[in-house]
Amino acid sequence: MDETKKILFKKTLLTSLLLIGISQLTICQNRTIIELTDNWKFKKGTNKEAFQPSFDDSKWEQVTVPHDWAIYGPFDKEIDKQMVAIIQNGEEIASEKTGRTGALPHIGEAWYRNQFILPELDKNKKVILLFEGAMSEPKVFLNGKKIGEWNYGYNYFYFDITDDLSKKGKNTLAVHLNNSPESSRWYPGAGLYRKVKIIIKNDVSIAQWGTFITTPYVTDTLAKVNIKTKVNGTGLNLVTDITDLNGNVINSGESSAIFGDEIEFNIPLKNPALWSPETPNLYKAVSKLYKNDTLVDIVETRFGVREIKYEANVGFSLNGVNRKFKGVCLHHDLGPLGTAINRSALKRQLLILKDMGVDAIRSSHNMPSFEQLELCDELGFMFLAESFDEWAQPKVKNGYNRFYQTDVEKDLVNLIHATRNHPCIVMWSSGNEVSDQWSAEGVKQAKRLQEIFHREDPTRPVTVGMDQVENTLANGFGAVLDIPGLNYRLHLYEDAYEKFPQAFILGSETASTVSSRGIYKFPVEKAAMKQYDDFQSSSYDLEYCSWSNVPDDDFVLQDDKPWVMGEFVWTGFDYLGEPTPYDEKWPSRSSYFGICDLAGIPKDRYYLYRSRWNKQEETLHILPHWNWEGREGEKTPVFVYSNYDSAELFVNGKSMGIQTKNNQSPQNRYRLMWMDVKYEPGTLKVIAFDKNGNPKAEKEIQTAGKPYQIVLQPDRTELKANGEDLSFVTVSVVDNKGIPCPTATDQLNFQVKGKGLFRAVCNGDPTSLEMFHEPTMKLFSGKLVVLVQSGKETGEIDLTVTGKGLKSEKLVLTAVP
Ligand code: GAL
Repeated sequence: MDETKKILFKKTLLTSLLLIGISQLTICQNRTIIELTDNWKFKKGTNKEAFQPSFDDSKWEQVTVPHDWAIYGPFDKEIDKQMVAIIQNGEEIASEKTGRTGALPHIGEAWYRNQFILPELDKNKKVILLFEGAMSEPKVFLNGKKIGEWNYGYNYFYFDITDDLSKKGKNTLAVHLNNSPESSRWYPGAGLYRKVKIIIKNDVSIAQWGTFITTPYVTDTLAKVNIKTKVNGTGLNLVTDITDLNGNVINSGESSAIFGDEIEFNIPLKNPALWSPETPNLYKAVSKLYKNDTLVDIVETRFGVREIKYEANVGFSLNGVNRKFKGVCLHHDLGPLGTAINRSALKRQLLILKDMGVDAIRSSHNMPSFEQLELCDELGFMFLAESFDEWAQPKVKNGYNRFYQTDVEKDLVNLIHATRNHPCIVMWSSGNEVSDQWSAEGVKQAKRLQEIFHREDPTRPVTVGMDQVENTLANGFGAVLDIPGLNYRLHLYEDAYEKFPQAFILGSETASTVSSRGIYKFPVEKAAMKQYDDFQSSSYDLEYCSWSNVPDDDFVLQDDKPWVMGEFVWTGFDYLGEPTPYDEKWPSRSSYFGICDLAGIPKDRYYLYRSRWNKQEETLHILPHWNWEGREGEKTPVFVYSNYDSAELFVNGKSMGIQTKNNQSPQNRYRLMWMDVKYEPGTLKVIAFDKNGNPKAEKEIQTAGKPYQIVLQPDRTELKANGEDLSFVTVSVVDNKGIPCPTATDQLNFQVKGKGLFRAVCNGDPTSLEMFHEPTMKLFSGKLVVLVQSGKETGEIDLTVTGKGLKSEKLVLTAVP
């Protein structure tokens, strides 16, 4: 296409797209990507005729995609109530599990419909319809005809719809989804929760996910970049430029030699800027395909140059430097947004984790979103990309076991093909605590899945998170794996290291310590599966599950055993569902495992990990809060989480003595603890010392009076006017002296005016039944978070927060182009 024609094509395309309200599109020469975001119609229910183009959906709800139909609630105890024994938790007798999958209305059938008009396409065009995830069991219809289906709700899949498009005019896309009861162990979300895209390209072109870039040789002065590109057609010539992110060409490869359907280059890169969590340098490969000297396709692929190595007794090295994973596991929901994918929410999560010193993420227990991987490439996080929580043997009756035999290979192939160019991915996982660990058949399956990974990507190893460690030691399951991943079971680490042939161990899942933000229980003691009348867990960070442990126990092994290659803590953020230790207690409906709560607010544990992992910045954190009316004179232990090894504590100016980290117990090794402090209102102050006993830092907290004024603290004040950007505003209250009120529970109201809207609110209380999308909520332990979303126009956005008897507060945000 020459320049004039191209502009014309763009113009017509834009006009027709604007007519029907498709807003997101990327146009490159010869390739157009349209995001189907707006104008979706949605309805829950069977609606047998909804696949027909003539079906009347005018009364249906209009929604934008990504969309999670269940997050709007209400919470209901009866939804997906499971009468089960959770075998992997050691239960033998079935009991009623109420909030296991979040108690939100995700069960059942629903339809999405979208009518779109494409520009008139010449006969040489190919059109692909891509779903980046659909929960679940999507069946896809175009213009009344079924064009395909994909069972696994977490995977990406696409169809070639060229022949099914209407020749001109409107196309009707209809997607049927179905979530079965007892199909999940957590809140899976519901709907078209990730992006849907249409890709228009030439028939002769680069295949979907057809580029595979690896860096088989890496030194400081030279890297070899291997690029394999799948193409179709004859008389082809491929030119691939390696550029920096500004598009400056650094080196190029060119070839017309096709092996089967693949063209391969090895392009040298001098003095490569290596990718690592600390230096997330990226490059682009711009692949230009020519047929008989005419440019027919361009694909840009971002990649990074890095070397990963896993060695016996040494563990993991990145770019020649041995290191341990400082990782967290994450479920895919985004708290009050549900599972509807949102880049700014994901970015906020990662920035919070970055500040804690995290350098790795595990997508438990399924395929990560493209957005999350892109952000991990950019911000610098290594990634353990997982695939399944179940193979052939069920954990829940209607889980993936129903599809394992028929789908497992194609699900893995899509995961690998779609994501393998992300430098952040340093390891694959073929499963989490699969019940197949028990059987000889399971051993065979472990080998089979690992071989699929190796075939599609020979550069990365494969793990499985194992909980049946003794069994996998005995039956050979663990010996088969590239990386033996142990979930908990610290007492078996030594044994596993000695008996497994790999000579290293990964803490694929650790801790599962439970706590509620800002809630403290007395007496302060270590306990498993501890329950209280208010269904909260203590934030002294000493409570855990019958199968798990407190963080310090992991730290000991991580620090003392060179062959332990790091850990992935369960979990970075609380998530909807799995409210252990209150699985049977209503209204508990979200987890207590998070280092941060469901609103993303750090709990105390955040600072314990930060004191070890963030080597750049100082950590000095005091707990509990100091508002204990009624506990005067009673023992109220004080803990300090700090990177300093010793500190002195003062209550109203009186010294409580100096504490120094020591080896008496794992807790003494990593925390500073004053167990005998008696509560009196006033000031708690801590002074931390360096190795030579010089005071280096101090911090104090005070007893607050009555809540007086609302305080708003946004994570960002400038939003992009793209209709999806978010500012997360932390709301708290202070007394009339400005001291934060840590126990406040005031009911607050939110109003957003101007060029944005109120999107959601969350207070992090795992037992709250207040809905996330109503503009009112109670504070939990003195805090909550309001999400303000940009519209598509630029200008001012005002958030006003009010509460009875409180001085209200207004915040001004700006939406920019
Ligand atoms: C693990 C499991 C996770 C979660 C966790 C809670 O065994 O892999 O999905 O259930 O326990 O402690």
